[in-house]
Amino acid sequence: MNKLRLGVIGIGNQGSNYLKACANGEFSEAVVTAVADDKPERLTAAKKILPDVECFNTAEELISSGICDAVVIATPHYFHPTYAIAAMKAGLHALSEKPAGVYTKQVREAIEFSKTVDLTYAMMFNQRPVGAYKAIRDMVQSGKYGQLRRVSWIITDWFRTQQYYDSGSWRATWAGEGGGVMLNQCPHQLDLWQWICGMPNKIRATCHEGKWHDIEVEDDVTIYAEYPNGATGTFVTTTGDYPGSNRLEITLDKARIIHEYDPIQKKFIARICELEMPSREFSDTAEGGFSKPSVEWQDIDVPEGDPTVDKVVNAFAAHILHGEPLIAEGEEGINGLTISNAAFLSSWLDKTVEIPFDEDLYLELLNKKIENSKYVKVTREQFCEDMNSTYGSKRG
Ligand SMILES: NC(=O)c1ccc[n+]([C@@H]2O[C@H](COP(=O)([O-])OP(=O)(O)OC[C@H]3O[C@@H](n4cnc5c(N)ncnc54)[C@H](O)[C@@H]3O)[C@@H](O)[C@H]2O)c1
Repeated sequence: MNKLRLGVIGIGNQGSNYLKACANGEFSEAVVTAVADDKPERLTAAKKILPDVECFNTAEELISSGICDAVVIATPHYFHPTYAIAAMKAGLHALSEKPAGVYTKQVREAIEFSKTVDLTYAMMFNQRPVGAYKAIRDMVQSGKYGQLRRVSWIITDWFRTQQYYDSGSWRATWAGEGGGVMLNQCPHQLDLWQWICGMPNKIRATCHEGKWHDIEVEDDVTIYAEYPNGATGTFVTTTGDYPGSNRLEITLDKARIIHEYDPIQKKFIARICELEMPSREFSDTAEGGFSKPSVEWQDIDVPEGDPTVDKVVNAFAAHILHGEPLIAEGEEGINGLTISNAAFLSSWLDKTVEIPFDEDLYLELLNKKIENSKYVKVTREQFCEDMNSTYGSKRG
């Protein structure tokens, strides 16, 4: 196999990016040979980007076509594990867009299935290769600065307008998307949070539904997390604040790390402050009530890079073709989702949730949200159809 033949399922905003990357020569060892979308106009758009691509109306037809070695799944989230399993059953490798799915029980099925076949199941976490995150992860995981004491991420720069939510019938509904900011925008940071700091074992959260937009799912979230070693964390996100922040702060026994977008310099800054000795040890032994350990601040100087899909796709192809490491295994996709499912559960039950939590209960409550939904969504596409049927096509 010279190049990995990819079939992209779902040619919307994100699916199109794979086609553009391929057309721009950004895939060193992969080529998009096929696309599938249930909307014919999306297939026409795909042909404009890649004229030779084969088009299919369903994922199933693409999977059984015989012209792909692997699929990229860029449909709405509920389909991610479904198509990953279908592809692997047909002998194809699978690269899933984030999130890995909507509920952990569904993703666990895909992970379990992937273990029964000799195929690659991977996640598109395209922020992992970006900027300082890898360097910060290495610093935290190395143990050089002691244990995690506190982490705080305020990630409120995901501002979205009402028109964004109205742009597709699946968006921001329990039935179509299964959540809001935690399922669509924040899977990146939820993954990075656990990738850098490890998994918490307790979650207490408040998820405000439709606080800043006319939607039924959450658009404002505060999570309080506890870790097995007693460290604590907070994670705050919304699509309603403008301007928002993206600031990650990590306190270790012997260091403090900050990664933040600076709107004046228009770039991320990353810094580490190393303490002469662990702060607790200093506190226990210092003379004088106001003494402080001496510290040294340094820039974490690594190139930022863009969160484009090419690095993850190239690593996926190199893994399949030559056994090189993936950027994110499929199995890792469940971690960030575990945090967001636990946050919903905590908010819905109004209590602290321990991880692992009751996945059947989570699914039962999610299904109740879907059944009890009174939300009637008028999307832009429906609005245009209604206007067309009432007034003729010119009004669309
Ligand atoms: N990695 C990233 O940075 C990133 C960025 C944006 C979106 N995403 C993810 O990509 C996915 C799609 O998001 P989007 O913004 O492109 O949505 P979108 O609505 O623009 O595109 C989804 C496409 O899937 C098609 N589709 C829906 N159901 C299908 C089915 N059963 N079979 C085949 N095609 C189907 C739709 O017709 C549409 O063209 C989401 O899961 C989202 O979280 C990831």
